[in-house]
Formats: sequence, C-alpha cells, structure tokens
Amino acid sequence: MAQLLQILAATQKCCSLRVTFLLIALIMIFFSYKSYLYPRSQKPESTQADVNLTVREHRGLQSVKLSRMLYRQPQVLTPARKDVLVVTPWLAPIIWEGTFNTDILNEQFSLRNATIGLTVFSIKTYMIFLKQFLQSAEMYFMVGHRVIYYIFTDKPEYVPYLNIQKGRQIIILEVESYYDHWQDISMQRMEMISNFCQERFHQEVDYLVCSDVDMRFSDHVGVEILSSLFGTLHPGYYGLNRTDFPYERRPQSQAHIPKDEGDFYYIGALFGGSVPEVYKLTKACHEAIMVDQANHIEAIWHDESHLNKYLLYHKPSKVLSPEYLWQQQQMDHMHDQEMIFSKIIRRKKLKVLKKNYQLKNWIEEGSGLRLF
Ligand SMILES: *[C@@H]1O[C@H](CO)[C@@H](O)[C@H](O)[C@H]1NC(C)=O
Ligand SMILES: *[C@@H]1O[C@H](CO)[C@@H](O)[C@H](O)[C@H]1NC(C)=O
Ligand SMILES: *[C@@H]1O[C@H](CO)[C@@H](O)[C@H](O)[C@H]1NC(C)=O
Repeated sequence: MAQLLQILAATQKCCSLRVTFLLIALIMIFFSYKSYLYPRSQKPESTQADVNLTVREHRGLQSVKLSRMLYRQPQVLTPARKDVLVVTPWLAPIIWEGTFNTDILNEQFSLRNATIGLTVFSIKTYMIFLKQFLQSAEMYFMVGHRVIYYIFTDKPEYVPYLNIQKGRQIIILEVESYYDHWQDISMQRMEMISNFCQERFHQEVDYLVCSDVDMRFSDHVGVEILSSLFGTLHPGYYGLNRTDFPYERRPQSQAHIPKDEGDFYYIGALFGGSVPEVYKLTKACHEAIMVDQANHIEAIWHDESHLNKYLLYHKPSKVLSPEYLWQQQQMDHMHDQEMIFSKIIRRKKLKVLKKNYQLKNWIEEGSGLRLF
C-alpha cells in the first residue's frame, strides 16, 4: 500500500511538473508573439535603434519625393498587346505603345536622379538637319528629365542657338572629319563615341542615346526606352525571315552573320544604353571596322552591319519597336510592309527626313556648305 501511495505521489508530481512546463512555454510564446507584433515594446536599446532608422528614412524622404499614384490595375488575364511580340526569347521587353505606363516609369526614373546624354553627329552638310532635330527633341525627348545634347560637329559655328528647357544642356564637341563619304563618317561615329565615353560621358551622364541627325521627333520618346543596352528594329525588315535580312554575308568580314543565325535586323540610326555598355559596343564595332579595313573589306551596311553582329552576340536588354523609327521614304517602296504597319503602329515617334529635298533647299538658300 505504501508502495502504491509512493507511485501515485510520483505521478502527481510528474503531472504538476508537466503543467508548469506547459504554462511557462505558453507564457514565453505569448511574450515573443507580443514583441513580434509590437517591436517598440522591446528593450530600450532596440527602441533607440528604431528611432535612428526612422530619422534616416525621414532624411531619405526629404531628398526624394514619394507620392501616391493612382492608375489602373494591371490586368493579368488581358495582355497589353496581342498583335505583336512584346518580349524576346531572352526576356527583353520590346517597347510598343500600349505596353507601358509613362507616369509610373517617369516617377520611378525621377527617384534615380539620372542624366541622359543624346549624341548626334552633325558633320558637313548634315548640319542642315540639326536645328529641326534639336527643336523637336526639346518638345518630345525625355521631357521632364535632365538631358545633355552632345553635338559632334566639324562646324561649331553653324550650331544653331536655341533656347532650351531648364535642366538641359547643349555641349558641342568639335571633331575633325577626315572622310568625305557618309559611310565613312558614319563608321567614324563608333570610334568617337567610344573615345568620349572614357573621356567625359562616364562622369556626366548615366545613359546614352545615340541617334542619327536627319530625323525629327514627332511624338514622345521617354525613359521607357532606357536600359543597359538597347537597339531598334529596322522598319524596312520588320517581320521578314532572317535569311532575308541584309546582314553582311561574306565570312571575310568581321560583321559576318550566317543565314541560320540572327534575331532581328536592328537599325544603325538609334541605339544606346548605360555608358559602360555603350562604350563596350562602340569600341567593339570600331575595332571590327578597323580589322575589316586592314583586310580591305567593308561591311555591306557599314557600321549598321557591325552593330547587328554585336547585338546578336550581346543581346540587348530592351528592343525598341519600329514605332521609334519611321521611314516613310522607304515605306513608299514596300507596300507589304506598309500593310503590316498600318495595323500595328499606333504612334510614329521619330521620323526619318527625306534627305534630297532638304539638301536642295539648303543649297538654294546659299549655305556655302560643301556637298560630299
Ligand atoms: C542614434 O543616433 C544618435 C545620433 O546620431 C547616436 O548618438 C546614437 O548612438 C544612435 N543610437 C544607436 C542605438 O545607434
Ligand atoms: C541630382 O543630380 C544632380 C546632377 O548630377 C545633382 O546636382 C543633384 O544634387 C542631385 N540631386 C539629388 C537629390 O541627389
Ligand atoms: C525562314 O526561311 C527558312 C529557309 O527558307 C525556313 O527553313 C524557315 O522555316 C523560315 N523561318 C520562318 C520563321 O519562317
């Protein structure tokens, strides 16, 4: 009997021990949960740390404006565009009207306080296009953001005087043009851009947009185009089989692309990216052009052929649709292409000017510029 009582007592003691443990565990869980819900009720040191964090956040808020934005919710079951490819197989967006919200992009871009450089070559008679190019850029290019126009020219005295918006600058870079043909001048651009990337662009701008000058902005071209490396689809070859692209096909050239390779045909008139990426691109293209010269071969479409080779092996992180480069002159001879475009092009953002007509006018006005 005494033995039985002993066993009973032990069991009870064990039970009450278990209950105590359970209670302690519950209390611990409750407090850790409470401090999880209310972190400020922690030890005084942590509270201090929180306050410091708030101050830092508050200081951050003073330098960058964060405002409430209202916009339509993205529709997960409704693609923005069903009629065109909007992403490449390497997941780079193809920029079409209707696929992005400019307000969101502008707000996000402003937080980064970045500067955009626009390079343009206005050499010899191409000076005639500069005024209209700049005037239209003032209306439509990167409106509301900080822009530096870099004008490469052999005739600084002909650069028109323009009243430009606040936050924008024109920098004239005098260059000597030792070539007479536009093809050579065009190829020379790769060398000059790569040199100036090292010399000054890397200190002054975050992005570079490299453009031809014989064009006019006719609608907004904003930060949606910016990315570490971007190229533009050539409107004349949109939708064609790659076997029909005018790539350089001679294996002797550095720009050679075989018939069974190629993604798109990019136009030489508009490309860009971050300064380091544009430096790599222009340096590689310039070096390839030099190798070709040493081998007495010139790629079929000059710098454009080399650009296409580069972008095939260094995939761009964004691709601009032909909305960004409209060539009416070329379309007049390509009725099939025009049929496709009449359905898919919603906006024509940059228009290539008709050269002959403009040149004729300029010469009649007695500009005194020498034709090449
Ligand atoms: C909080 O910031 C103050 C002033 O900058 C500093 O003296 C203090 O040591 C900081 N406290 C902690 C916990 O970091
Ligand atoms: C933004 O950048 C400009 C020029 O790079 C600089 O002067 C300015 O202080 C910057 N603003 C902020 C808030 O960082
Ligand atoms: C392109 O043309 C080649 C050769 O004619 C053919 O084998 C290929 O299927 C075509 N590709 C497309 C996307 O039509």
